[in-house]
Amino acid sequence: MTTHHFARNRDEIEPPSSLVTTLDLGAVGRGFTMQGALGPGSALGIDGHALLPHGIEADDDLICALSLSILDSPGHVALLSYWASLVPHGRLVVPESVVAGGLRLGTLETELGAPSDICEVEGRRWGIFRGRPWRGSNTVIDWWHDRGGEVATAQHELQPVDLRAESLETNWPVTFMPTGKDVIRSVDRPSPRELGAAWSYQVWAVLAKIAVLRWILREFEVEGPVDHVDLGPGSGLVGAELVLDPTVAVRCSMGLELRAIGPWSGCRLAGATISSLGDLWRFRVGTASTWSGSPRLGLFTALGSLFLLPRTDSAAILEHAWDSLLPGGLLVVHENIRHERFAADQAMMFDRVELEDLLGRFGPVQHVAATAYRRLQPDQVGEKTIFRVVVKRS
Ligand SMILES: C[S@@+](CC[C@H](N)C(=O)[O-])C[C@H]1O[C@@H](n2cnc3c(N)ncnc32)[C@H](O)[C@@H]1O
Repeated sequence: MTTHHFARNRDEIEPPSSLVTTLDLGAVGRGFTMQGALGPGSALGIDGHALLPHGIEADDDLICALSLSILDSPGHVALLSYWASLVPHGRLVVPESVVAGGLRLGTLETELGAPSDICEVEGRRWGIFRGRPWRGSNTVIDWWHDRGGEVATAQHELQPVDLRAESLETNWPVTFMPTGKDVIRSVDRPSPRELGAAWSYQVWAVLAKIAVLRWILREFEVEGPVDHVDLGPGSGLVGAELVLDPTVAVRCSMGLELRAIGPWSGCRLAGATISSLGDLWRFRVGTASTWSGSPRLGLFTALGSLFLLPRTDSAAILEHAWDSLLPGGLLVVHENIRHERFAADQAMMFDRVELEDLLGRFGPVQHVAATAYRRLQPDQVGEKTIFRVVVKRS
């Protein structure tokens, strides 16, 4: 029996030794991070991706790191269930979160059953849950559980010709723009290792965005059912999850995506669920610059995508979104603020003042934390990556 550790990144790949001692856990084995295999960094080393872990035995124990920022949301609970299913004869050790909206052990109990023990280590409550076989969750984690590895392999083997409009399966909810000339159909050929790392990071980041968006919809009292448009959705998991969740006010979601690989991989992940979603989850493939609005819009999101468009186009898209929004609808933007650590994108990124000015023309900008269910006062924002929300009043 071995103990593996799921962590955010290599900086905290070792589980707290006091926890290992208190729980009398087995020898420490592998470390898995959300950012994938980044090379040897500690005595433990890093073995792979927390969303595509390998080398785990059914009777092993798994520990979730403190800094994982696990929120009280169906997606995060489903991810923990997925991990618990990797050790049906072992245990999953989970810290109770203390941030607003962070995971409560009681919520996990409804999914995994009563913990076999709860202990307090270094002032934090940890729940020890027994592993159990996988059960579906009706979240996008089901898609990932069922087909994540398969999609990553298919993506590695993909040829650009597979992304030509005519060779995408016709029953996929994908519409190519009439000219289609601006659709990016080229594909990179990352190694399986790089793909695993990219997917782990992407799915993990998307779960936090979904969790906070669900909270924003409630907090800003959006009355459903409303339509959602997502600028640059990649594989469209955010929109899919909002549609799948019956407690969320979103009825249908459309992604405006430039790169065909996003819808291609999202639709492959969805598998047969596509038919049950019908036309509630769709992509319009081509540059968003030619989008001129959608009727009945209740939520427009741009999550890490606005900075990629020419500034005049991003301003025009926000205008169209604003004009389309119904009263009470939300414009929600999530952008990293320009910083030298984002070497490749720095030149294109917004600085804080520019982004505030761009959104502020529509109304007061309200600020929400990125990994907690919490509004921020303007003086708490700084250069943080957060959600910016503008409510359409009338
Ligand atoms: C950093 S990714 C963010 C993906 C997703 N929103 C998320 O939060 O995980 C940016 C996305 O914007 C897309 N994008 C870039 N330029 C675009 C354009 N002109 N029109 C539509 N999508 C675009 C990219 O292809 C990519 O999928």
